[in-house]
Amino acid sequence: MLDICRLKASQKALSHVRNGIVLGLGTGSTVAVFIKLLAKMVKDKGLDIKCVATSYQSEHLAVDIGLNVLPLESFSCIDLAVDGADEVDGRMALIKGGGAALTREKVVASMAKEYIVIVDYSKLSSRIGEKKPVPIEVLPYAWRYVMKRIEKINGKPSLRGGGKYKDGPILTDNGNFIIDAYFGVINGPEELEYRINSIAGVVECGLFVGLAKRIYVGYPDRVDEIT
Ligand code: A5P
Repeated sequence: MLDICRLKASQKALSHVRNGIVLGLGTGSTVAVFIKLLAKMVKDKGLDIKCVATSYQSEHLAVDIGLNVLPLESFSCIDLAVDGADEVDGRMALIKGGGAALTREKVVASMAKEYIVIVDYSKLSSRIGEKKPVPIEVLPYAWRYVMKRIEKINGKPSLRGGGKYKDGPILTDNGNFIIDAYFGVINGPEELEYRINSIAGVVECGLFVGLAKRIYVGYPDRVDEIT
């Protein structure tokens, strides 16, 4: 059921892709659908699209299916970025980082002239924080300090483990740890983002505020657009 929703949202985002652009590829299962559609369109229409990726996951997939992926450091600005999210609300505030790619995702989103988010309807909340914790990328040697500081601002932090695939904490693509912090409903996402990112040792947090200009929310029978 959610697969069709992801497909519908991805198709909408695909309609924004133009020949000759530099395109940022987000991370996650929804973006994976978009990347596959993109590769087919590029091949069918013979387009010249330069891609930059926000994770090894997206880079590997894109390269494997024939897209032209270049290093992010080659660019200071990109035309369009398409990414998923873990939770979105009507204010266009996002929680991202379920796949631990939030730092590169935020850099790419910030660099993009147009930033489009694609989600299925299960990601929609009236206020972000209702469903998901805020992922925070931290320097490994600072994690205990950051956990303590997060508690002081009423967060409930935990260090993300690698589950059955890795003993101990997961490592991001940048070699850092992830702390997941529950805050409950987030009424002031901008202020919370500022407070978290002001803690020494924090690399970036998964609150994305004021970045998304368009969110496509896929349902089984339609796509809603939040602008
Ligand atoms: C990656 O770190 C995340 O920000 C993803 O963009 C987010 O988790 C969405 O992933 P799915 O499309 O797999 O839900």
